[in-house]
Amino acid sequence: MDREKYGILIVDDEESIRRLLQKELANSRREIHAAADGAEALAMVRNHWFEVVIMDLWLPDVSDLELLIRIRESIPHIEVIMITGHGDVDIAVEAMKLGAYDFIRKPFDLDRLDLIVEKAHQRALLSRENAMLRHSTSQGKDQVRFIGNSQAIRDIQFLIDKVAPARIPVLITGESGVGKDVVARLIHQRSPLAANPMIVKNCATLQKELARSELFGHTKGSFTGADESREGLLSFAHDSTLFLDEIGELPLEVQASLLRALETGTYRRVGEKEERKVNIRYLFATNRHLADEVEKGRFNEAFFHRINAFSIEIPSLKQRKEDLPLLVDYFLTALSPDNTSYRIVDRAMSCILSYNWPGNIRELRNVIERSIILAENGIISERCLPREMVESAEHTEAVLTLESVEKQHILKLLDFHGGNRQKTAETLGISRKTLYRKLNQYAIE
Ligand SMILES: Nc1ncnc2c1ncn2[C@@H]1O[C@H](COP(=O)(O)OP(=O)(O)OP(=O)(O)O)[C@@H](O)[C@H]1O
Ligand SMILES: [Mg+2]
Repeated sequence: MDREKYGILIVDDEESIRRLLQKELANSRREIHAAADGAEALAMVRNHWFEVVIMDLWLPDVSDLELLIRIRESIPHIEVIMITGHGDVDIAVEAMKLGAYDFIRKPFDLDRLDLIVEKAHQRALLSRENAMLRHSTSQGKDQVRFIGNSQAIRDIQFLIDKVAPARIPVLITGESGVGKDVVARLIHQRSPLAANPMIVKNCATLQKELARSELFGHTKGSFTGADESREGLLSFAHDSTLFLDEIGELPLEVQASLLRALETGTYRRVGEKEERKVNIRYLFATNRHLADEVEKGRFNEAFFHRINAFSIEIPSLKQRKEDLPLLVDYFLTALSPDNTSYRIVDRAMSCILSYNWPGNIRELRNVIERSIILAENGIISERCLPREMVESAEHTEAVLTLESVEKQHILKLLDFHGGNRQKTAETLGISRKTLYRKLNQYAIE
Protein backbone atom coordinates (compact mmCIF):
# COMPACT_ATOMS: atom_id res chain seq x y z
CA MET A 1 0.00 0.00 0.00
CA ASP A 2 1.15 3.49 -0.85
CA ARG A 3 2.69 4.95 2.32
CA GLU A 4 1.46 8.44 1.55
CA LYS A 5 -2.13 7.21 1.70
CA TYR A 6 -4.20 5.63 4.38
CA GLY A 7 -6.32 2.56 3.90
CA ILE A 8 -10.08 2.21 4.15
CA LEU A 9 -11.92 -1.08 3.86
CA ILE A 10 -15.64 -1.11 3.05
CA VAL A 11 -17.47 -4.29 4.02
CA ASP A 12 -20.98 -4.69 2.68
CA ASP A 13 -22.78 -7.51 0.94
CA GLU A 14 -24.60 -5.11 -1.41
CA GLU A 15 -22.49 -4.24 -4.36
CA SER A 16 -24.34 -0.96 -5.00
CA ILE A 17 -23.42 0.29 -1.53
CA ARG A 18 -19.78 -0.73 -1.90
CA ARG A 19 -19.61 1.13 -5.18
CA LEU A 20 -21.38 4.20 -3.83
CA LEU A 21 -19.08 4.48 -0.81
CA GLN A 22 -15.96 3.84 -2.82
CA LYS A 23 -16.90 6.60 -5.19
CA GLU A 24 -18.08 9.13 -2.63
CA LEU A 25 -15.25 8.72 -0.14
CA ALA A 26 -12.51 8.74 -2.74
CA ASN A 27 -9.84 11.39 -2.42
CA SER A 28 -6.13 11.55 -3.13
CA ARG A 29 -5.08 10.62 0.43
CA ARG A 30 -7.17 7.48 0.67
CA GLU A 31 -6.80 4.05 -0.76
CA ILE A 32 -10.15 2.33 -0.65
CA HIS A 33 -10.81 -1.39 -0.93
CA ALA A 34 -14.01 -3.36 -0.57
CA ALA A 35 -15.04 -6.80 0.69
CA ALA A 36 -18.39 -8.54 0.26
CA ASP A 37 -18.43 -10.63 3.42
CA GLY A 38 -16.78 -11.25 6.76
CA ALA A 39 -14.34 -13.90 5.61
CA GLU A 40 -13.06 -11.75 2.77
CA ALA A 41 -12.82 -8.76 5.10
CA LEU A 42 -10.72 -10.62 7.66
CA ALA A 43 -8.38 -11.92 5.01
CA MET A 44 -7.91 -8.42 3.61
CA VAL A 45 -7.39 -6.84 6.98
CA ARG A 46 -4.49 -9.19 7.60
CA ASN A 47 -2.96 -8.65 4.22
CA HIS A 48 -3.22 -4.92 3.81
CA TRP A 49 -2.62 -2.08 6.12
CA PHE A 50 -5.97 -0.42 6.85
CA GLU A 51 -6.64 2.35 9.31
CA VAL A 52 -10.42 2.47 8.95
CA VAL A 53 -13.06 -0.18 8.31
CA ILE A 54 -16.62 0.73 7.43
CA MET A 55 -18.88 -2.27 7.82
CA ASP A 56 -22.48 -3.27 7.58
CA LEU A 57 -23.94 -4.79 10.71
CA TRP A 58 -25.78 -7.44 8.78
CA LEU A 59 -23.37 -9.51 6.83
CA PRO A 60 -24.33 -12.88 5.38
CA ASP A 61 -21.61 -15.04 6.88
CA VAL A 62 -20.87 -13.70 10.35
CA SER A 63 -23.05 -13.15 13.36
CA ASP A 64 -23.72 -9.62 14.47
CA LEU A 65 -20.68 -8.31 16.20
CA GLU A 66 -18.30 -11.14 15.67
CA LEU A 67 -16.53 -9.51 12.76
CA LEU A 68 -16.00 -6.32 14.74
CA ILE A 69 -14.45 -8.29 17.57
CA ARG A 70 -12.23 -10.28 15.28
CA ILE A 71 -11.00 -7.27 13.37
CA ARG A 72 -10.16 -5.35 16.54
CA GLU A 73 -8.45 -8.40 17.95
CA SER A 74 -6.52 -8.89 14.78
CA ILE A 75 -5.34 -5.30 14.27
CA PRO A 76 -5.94 -3.22 17.41
CA HIS A 77 -5.19 0.16 15.88
CA ILE A 78 -7.95 -0.14 13.25
CA GLU A 79 -11.04 1.97 13.85
CA VAL A 80 -14.35 0.46 12.81
CA ILE A 81 -17.40 2.44 11.72
CA MET A 82 -20.67 0.50 11.68
CA ILE A 83 -23.45 0.96 9.15
CA THR A 84 -26.83 0.39 10.73
CA GLY A 85 -30.46 0.37 9.60
CA HIS A 86 -33.57 1.52 11.44
CA GLY A 87 -34.15 -0.16 14.73
CA ASP A 88 -30.55 -1.20 15.22
CA VAL A 89 -29.91 1.23 18.04
CA ASP A 90 -29.38 -1.41 20.70
CA ILE A 91 -26.93 -3.31 18.68
CA ALA A 92 -25.14 -0.12 17.67
CA VAL A 93 -24.68 0.75 21.32
CA GLU A 94 -23.35 -2.72 21.96
CA ALA A 95 -20.92 -2.28 19.07
CA MET A 96 -19.59 0.94 20.59
CA LYS A 97 -19.00 -0.87 23.86
CA LEU A 98 -16.99 -3.44 21.99
CA GLY A 99 -14.75 -0.80 20.56
CA ALA A 100 -16.48 0.44 17.40
CA TYR A 101 -15.54 4.04 16.70
CA ASP A 102 -18.96 5.29 15.63
CA PHE A 103 -22.00 4.26 13.64
CA ILE A 104 -23.91 5.78 10.77
CA ARG A 105 -27.47 5.10 9.71
CA LYS A 106 -28.78 4.30 6.30
CA PRO A 107 -29.58 6.30 4.22
CA PHE A 108 -26.19 7.93 4.53
CA ASP A 109 -25.41 11.51 5.20
CA LEU A 110 -22.25 11.32 3.11
CA ASP A 111 -20.69 14.53 4.44
CA ARG A 112 -21.05 13.28 7.95
CA LEU A 113 -19.59 9.91 7.02
CA ASP A 114 -16.64 11.65 5.42
CA LEU A 115 -15.99 13.55 8.62
CA ILE A 116 -16.28 10.45 10.80
CA VAL A 117 -13.85 8.60 8.55
CA GLU A 118 -11.34 11.42 8.85
CA LYS A 119 -11.57 11.50 12.64
CA ALA A 120 -11.36 7.72 12.88
CA HIS A 121 -8.21 7.87 10.79
CA GLN A 122 -6.67 10.42 13.16
CA ARG A 123 -7.42 8.21 16.12
CA ALA A 124 -6.03 5.12 14.41
CA LEU A 125 -2.81 6.99 13.68
CA LEU A 126 -2.52 8.15 17.25
CA SER A 127 -3.03 4.75 18.82
CA ARG A 128 -0.52 3.21 16.45
CA GLU A 129 1.98 5.94 17.24
CA ASN A 130 1.51 5.33 20.96
CA ALA A 131 1.98 1.60 20.54
CA MET A 132 5.16 2.21 18.54
CA LEU A 133 6.52 4.63 21.12
CA ARG A 134 5.93 2.11 23.87
CA HIS A 135 8.19 -0.30 22.02
CA SER A 136 10.80 2.17 20.98
CA THR A 137 13.18 3.85 23.38
CA SER A 138 13.11 7.29 24.92
CA GLN A 139 16.19 8.50 23.10
CA GLY A 140 14.35 7.85 19.83
CA LYS A 141 14.25 11.39 18.51
CA ASP A 142 17.48 12.76 19.95
CA GLN A 143 20.19 13.45 17.49
CA VAL A 144 22.96 10.95 18.03
CA ARG A 145 26.61 11.79 17.46
CA PHE A 146 29.17 9.38 16.15
CA ILE A 147 32.47 10.99 17.00
CA GLY A 148 35.87 9.97 15.67
CA ASN A 149 38.33 10.81 12.93
CA SER A 150 40.20 7.54 12.68
CA GLN A 151 40.10 5.83 9.31
CA ALA A 152 37.92 3.09 10.84
CA ILE A 153 35.28 5.58 11.97
CA ARG A 154 35.38 7.46 8.68
CA ASP A 155 34.85 4.20 6.82
CA ILE A 156 31.87 3.39 9.03
CA GLN A 157 30.39 6.84 8.51
CA PHE A 158 30.65 6.26 4.79
CA LEU A 159 28.94 2.86 5.08
CA ILE A 160 26.13 4.34 7.20
CA ASP A 161 25.43 7.03 4.61
CA LYS A 162 25.39 4.50 1.81
CA VAL A 163 23.30 1.83 3.49
CA ALA A 164 20.76 4.04 5.31
CA PRO A 165 18.53 4.73 2.28
CA ALA A 166 18.66 1.11 1.09
CA ARG A 167 16.19 -1.37 2.50
CA ILE A 168 18.60 -4.20 3.17
CA PRO A 169 19.15 -5.64 6.63
CA VAL A 170 22.36 -4.61 8.40
CA LEU A 171 24.31 -6.53 11.01
CA ILE A 172 26.35 -4.36 13.38
CA THR A 173 29.11 -6.11 15.31
CA GLY A 174 31.67 -5.10 17.90
CA GLU A 175 32.58 -5.41 21.57
CA SER A 176 30.32 -4.11 24.29
CA GLY A 177 30.15 -0.31 24.56
CA VAL A 178 31.71 0.27 21.17
CA GLY A 179 28.78 2.18 19.66
CA LYS A 180 26.50 -0.40 18.03
CA ASP A 181 23.37 1.35 19.26
CA VAL A 182 24.69 4.63 17.96
CA VAL A 183 25.22 3.17 14.50
CA ALA A 184 21.74 1.58 14.46
CA ARG A 185 20.14 4.91 15.39
CA LEU A 186 22.06 6.76 12.72
CA ILE A 187 21.01 4.30 10.05
CA HIS A 188 17.38 4.70 11.06
CA GLN A 189 17.57 8.49 11.30
CA ARG A 190 19.04 8.75 7.83
CA SER A 191 16.59 6.31 6.28
CA PRO A 192 13.30 7.11 4.54
CA LEU A 193 11.55 5.55 7.56
CA ALA A 194 12.91 8.11 10.02
CA ALA A 195 9.51 9.72 10.61
CA ASN A 196 8.41 6.63 12.56
CA PRO A 197 10.07 5.61 15.80
CA MET A 198 12.53 2.75 15.55
CA ILE A 199 11.29 -0.34 17.39
CA VAL A 200 14.03 -1.83 19.57
CA LYS A 201 14.19 -5.22 21.21
CA ASN A 202 17.06 -6.81 23.05
CA CYS A 203 16.82 -10.52 22.25
CA ALA A 204 18.51 -11.41 25.54
CA THR A 205 15.33 -10.29 27.31
CA LEU A 206 13.10 -12.61 25.30
CA GLN A 207 11.84 -15.62 27.19
CA LYS A 208 12.54 -18.69 25.13
CA GLU A 209 8.96 -19.99 25.07
CA LEU A 210 7.46 -16.59 24.38
CA ALA A 211 9.97 -15.28 21.86
CA ARG A 212 7.92 -16.31 18.86
CA SER A 213 4.79 -14.70 20.21
CA GLU A 214 6.62 -11.48 21.13
CA LEU A 215 7.92 -11.12 17.61
CA PHE A 216 4.97 -12.31 15.61
CA GLY A 217 2.03 -12.00 18.00
CA HIS A 218 -0.50 -14.71 18.77
CA THR A 219 -4.20 -15.48 18.58
CA LYS A 220 -6.39 -16.04 21.57
CA GLY A 221 -6.12 -19.58 22.91
CA SER A 222 -3.16 -20.49 20.73
CA PHE A 223 -1.26 -21.73 23.78
CA THR A 224 -1.81 -22.03 27.51
CA GLY A 225 -1.89 -18.56 28.96
CA ALA A 226 -2.81 -16.86 25.68
CA ASP A 227 -6.01 -15.38 27.06
CA GLU A 228 -6.16 -12.63 24.51
CA SER A 229 -4.76 -12.24 21.07
CA ARG A 230 -1.76 -9.98 20.86
CA GLU A 231 0.18 -8.03 18.31
CA GLY A 232 3.84 -8.79 17.86
CA LEU A 233 6.80 -6.47 17.41
CA LEU A 234 6.73 -6.95 13.65
CA SER A 235 3.32 -5.37 13.58
CA PHE A 236 4.50 -2.35 15.60
CA ALA A 237 7.51 -2.00 13.34
CA HIS A 238 5.49 -1.80 10.13
CA ASP A 239 6.74 1.09 7.99
CA SER A 240 9.66 1.56 10.35
CA THR A 241 12.92 0.00 11.51
CA LEU A 242 13.07 -3.04 13.77
CA PHE A 243 16.36 -3.14 15.66
CA LEU A 244 17.00 -6.56 17.19
CA ASP A 245 19.89 -6.18 19.59
CA GLU A 246 21.94 -9.14 20.81
CA ILE A 247 20.59 -11.21 17.94
CA GLY A 248 22.92 -14.04 18.99
CA GLU A 249 20.49 -14.65 21.86
CA LEU A 250 17.45 -15.17 19.65
CA PRO A 251 16.24 -18.75 20.18
CA LEU A 252 17.27 -20.97 17.29
CA GLU A 253 13.68 -22.12 16.70
CA VAL A 254 12.55 -18.61 15.89
CA GLN A 255 15.42 -17.74 13.57
CA ALA A 256 14.02 -19.65 10.59
CA SER A 257 10.68 -17.87 10.87
CA LEU A 258 12.38 -14.52 11.10
CA LEU A 259 14.45 -15.36 8.04
CA ARG A 260 11.21 -16.06 6.22
CA ALA A 261 9.81 -12.71 7.29
CA LEU A 262 12.96 -11.00 6.01
CA GLU A 263 12.75 -12.72 2.67
CA THR A 264 9.05 -12.61 1.94
CA GLY A 265 7.85 -9.61 3.93
CA THR A 266 5.18 -11.82 5.47
CA TYR A 267 4.75 -13.64 8.77
CA ARG A 268 2.20 -15.60 10.73
CA ARG A 269 0.95 -15.01 14.21
CA VAL A 270 1.22 -18.00 16.55
CA GLY A 271 -2.00 -19.97 16.10
CA GLU A 272 -2.90 -18.40 12.79
CA LYS A 273 -2.68 -19.83 9.28
CA GLU A 274 -3.03 -16.65 7.30
CA GLU A 275 0.00 -14.60 6.48
CA ARG A 276 0.28 -10.92 7.25
CA LYS A 277 2.24 -8.45 5.21
CA VAL A 278 4.68 -5.97 6.68
CA ASN A 279 7.14 -3.43 5.43
CA ILE A 280 10.11 -3.40 7.79
CA ARG A 281 13.77 -2.39 7.71
CA TYR A 282 15.75 -4.78 9.91
CA LEU A 283 18.87 -3.95 11.89
CA PHE A 284 20.74 -6.45 14.04
CA ALA A 285 23.57 -6.14 16.52
CA THR A 286 25.72 -8.57 18.42
CA ASN A 287 28.97 -8.74 20.33
CA ARG A 288 29.23 -12.44 19.59
CA HIS A 289 31.11 -14.01 16.76
CA LEU A 290 28.13 -15.39 14.86
CA ALA A 291 30.18 -17.46 12.41
CA ASP A 292 31.48 -19.43 15.42
CA GLU A 293 27.95 -19.81 16.74
CA VAL A 294 26.92 -21.22 13.35
CA GLU A 295 29.83 -23.64 13.49
CA LYS A 296 28.75 -24.82 16.92
CA GLY A 297 25.19 -25.30 15.72
CA ARG A 298 23.85 -22.52 17.92
CA PHE A 299 22.88 -20.14 15.13
CA ASN A 300 20.91 -20.79 11.95
CA GLU A 301 23.34 -20.77 9.05
CA ALA A 302 20.97 -19.46 6.36
CA PHE A 303 19.78 -16.71 8.70
CA PHE A 304 23.37 -15.76 9.44
CA HIS A 305 24.27 -15.45 5.77
CA ARG A 306 21.18 -13.36 5.11
CA ILE A 307 21.87 -10.85 7.88
CA ASN A 308 25.60 -10.87 7.36
CA ALA A 309 25.23 -9.80 3.72
CA PHE A 310 25.80 -6.24 4.84
CA SER A 311 27.70 -5.97 8.08
CA ILE A 312 29.40 -3.12 9.86
CA GLU A 313 32.14 -4.03 12.27
CA ILE A 314 33.07 -1.40 14.83
CA PRO A 315 36.64 -1.83 16.07
CA SER A 316 37.33 -1.61 19.78
CA LEU A 317 38.55 1.69 21.22
CA LYS A 318 42.03 0.34 21.86
CA GLN A 319 42.37 -0.32 18.15
CA ARG A 320 41.67 3.32 17.35
CA LYS A 321 43.23 5.32 20.13
CA GLU A 322 43.69 8.24 17.78
CA ASP A 323 39.96 8.92 18.36
CA LEU A 324 40.55 9.45 22.09
CA PRO A 325 41.39 13.18 22.10
CA LEU A 326 38.25 14.03 20.06
CA LEU A 327 36.05 11.74 22.15
CA VAL A 328 37.41 13.17 25.40
CA ASP A 329 36.72 16.71 24.17
CA TYR A 330 33.28 15.71 23.03
CA PHE A 331 32.31 14.14 26.36
CA LEU A 332 33.85 17.01 28.35
CA THR A 333 31.53 19.38 26.51
CA ALA A 334 28.50 17.12 26.24
CA LEU A 335 28.56 16.08 29.91
CA SER A 336 29.50 19.44 31.37
CA PRO A 337 26.62 20.31 33.68
CA ASP A 338 26.92 24.09 33.40
CA ASN A 339 28.88 24.72 30.22
CA THR A 340 32.11 25.01 32.19
CA SER A 341 35.05 24.26 29.97
CA TYR A 342 37.41 21.68 31.36
CA ARG A 343 41.09 21.24 30.77
CA ILE A 344 42.78 17.93 31.10
CA VAL A 345 46.43 17.91 32.24
CA ASP A 346 49.02 16.10 30.12
CA ARG A 347 49.69 13.32 32.59
CA ALA A 348 45.99 12.53 32.90
CA MET A 349 45.69 12.52 29.14
CA SER A 350 48.60 10.12 28.81
CA CYS A 351 46.89 7.78 31.29
CA ILE A 352 43.81 7.92 29.12
CA LEU A 353 45.90 7.22 26.04
CA SER A 354 47.77 4.28 27.51
CA TYR A 355 44.78 2.60 29.16
CA ASN A 356 43.30 -0.20 27.07
CA TRP A 357 39.58 0.54 27.57
CA PRO A 358 37.97 -2.89 27.88
CA GLY A 359 34.57 -1.21 28.25
CA ASN A 360 35.17 0.92 25.17
CA ILE A 361 33.33 4.22 24.67
CA ARG A 362 30.81 3.52 27.40
CA GLU A 363 33.65 3.21 29.91
CA LEU A 364 35.28 6.37 28.58
CA ARG A 365 32.03 8.25 28.93
CA ASN A 366 31.70 7.11 32.55
CA VAL A 367 35.30 8.01 33.36
CA ILE A 368 34.86 11.51 31.95
CA GLU A 369 31.57 11.98 33.76
CA ARG A 370 33.27 11.07 37.03
CA SER A 371 36.29 13.24 36.34
CA ILE A 372 34.09 16.27 35.78
CA ILE A 373 32.66 15.83 39.26
CA LEU A 374 36.14 15.56 40.78
CA ALA A 375 37.68 18.38 38.75
CA GLU A 376 38.97 21.42 40.57
CA ASN A 377 38.66 24.81 38.92
CA GLY A 378 37.96 23.11 35.65
CA ILE A 379 41.23 21.18 35.76
CA ILE A 380 41.20 17.43 35.37
CA SER A 381 44.31 15.83 36.80
CA GLU A 382 45.28 12.20 37.36
CA ARG A 383 43.57 12.39 40.73
CA CYS A 384 40.22 12.70 38.93
CA LEU A 385 40.73 9.39 37.14
CA PRO A 386 39.96 6.00 38.66
CA ARG A 387 43.00 4.69 40.56
CA GLU A 388 43.11 1.36 38.77
CA MET A 389 43.32 3.25 35.53
CA VAL A 390 46.28 5.35 36.61
CA GLU A 391 48.03 2.32 38.04
CA SER A 392 47.42 0.23 34.98
CA ALA A 393 48.68 3.11 32.84
CA GLU A 394 51.91 3.23 34.90
CA HIS A 395 52.14 -0.51 34.63
CA THR A 396 51.71 -0.41 30.87
CA GLU A 397 54.28 2.37 30.63
CA ALA A 398 56.77 0.39 32.69
CA VAL A 399 56.26 -2.66 30.55
CA LEU A 400 56.12 -0.89 27.29
CA THR A 401 58.92 1.67 27.25
CA LEU A 402 62.33 0.22 26.78
CA GLU A 403 63.91 3.13 28.62
CA SER A 404 61.97 2.58 31.79
CA VAL A 405 62.78 -1.13 31.66
CA GLU A 406 66.47 -0.22 31.44
CA LYS A 407 66.17 2.28 34.28
CA GLN A 408 64.49 -0.28 36.55
CA HIS A 409 67.17 -2.83 35.69
CA ILE A 410 70.07 -0.44 36.48
CA LEU A 411 68.44 0.52 39.79
CA LYS A 412 68.09 -3.13 40.74
CA LEU A 413 71.75 -3.92 39.94
CA LEU A 414 73.01 -0.86 41.80
CA ASP A 415 71.03 -1.97 44.76
CA PHE A 416 72.39 -5.52 44.46
CA HIS A 417 76.01 -4.26 44.33
CA GLY A 418 75.47 -1.89 47.24
CA GLY A 419 75.81 1.18 45.02
CA ASN A 420 79.10 0.04 43.49
CA ARG A 421 79.15 1.55 40.00
CA GLN A 422 82.17 -0.37 38.71
CA LYS A 423 80.55 -3.74 39.50
CA THR A 424 77.23 -2.61 38.13
CA ALA A 425 78.86 -1.57 34.83
CA GLU A 426 80.68 -4.89 34.63
CA THR A 427 77.49 -6.89 35.20
CA LEU A 428 75.75 -4.83 32.56
CA GLY A 429 78.64 -5.35 30.18
CA ILE A 430 79.08 -1.62 29.54
CA SER A 431 81.85 0.87 30.28
CA ARG A 432 81.75 3.06 33.41
CA LYS A 433 81.46 6.07 31.13
CA THR A 434 78.31 4.68 29.49
CA LEU A 435 76.85 3.85 32.88
CA TYR A 436 77.44 7.44 34.09
CA ARG A 437 75.71 8.75 30.99
CA LYS A 438 72.71 6.52 31.66
CA LEU A 439 72.60 7.48 35.35
CA ASN A 440 72.54 11.04 34.24
CA GLN A 441 69.86 10.40 31.66
CA TYR A 442 67.59 8.66 34.16
CA ALA A 443 68.40 11.17 36.89
CA ILE A 444 69.66 8.44 39.21
CA GLU A 445 71.73 9.94 42.02
N1 LIG B 1 31.58 7.30 18.28
C1 LIG B 1 30.85 7.73 19.32
N2 LIG B 1 30.68 9.04 19.53
C2 LIG B 1 29.99 9.48 20.60
N3 LIG B 1 29.43 8.68 21.51
C3 LIG B 1 29.55 7.36 21.35
C4 LIG B 1 30.27 6.81 20.26
N4 LIG B 1 30.25 5.47 20.36
C5 LIG B 1 29.56 5.19 21.48
N5 LIG B 1 29.13 6.31 22.08
C6 LIG B 1 28.41 6.38 23.37
O1 LIG B 1 28.92 5.34 24.19
C7 LIG B 1 27.91 4.66 24.90
C8 LIG B 1 27.88 3.20 24.50
O2 LIG B 1 27.55 3.05 23.14
P1 LIG B 1 26.46 1.99 22.62
O3 LIG B 1 25.34 1.87 23.59
O4 LIG B 1 26.10 2.34 21.23
O5 LIG B 1 27.35 0.67 22.67
P2 LIG B 1 26.96 -0.82 22.22
O6 LIG B 1 28.00 -1.25 21.25
O7 LIG B 1 25.55 -0.86 21.76
O8 LIG B 1 27.17 -1.62 23.57
P3 LIG B 1 26.46 -2.99 24.09
O9 LIG B 1 27.09 -4.12 23.34
O10 LIG B 1 26.80 -3.04 25.53
O11 LIG B 1 25.01 -2.85 23.82
C9 LIG B 1 26.63 5.41 24.58
O12 LIG B 1 26.43 6.37 25.58
C10 LIG B 1 26.92 6.07 23.25
O13 LIG B 1 26.15 7.23 23.09
MG1 LIG C 1 23.90 -1.79 22.58
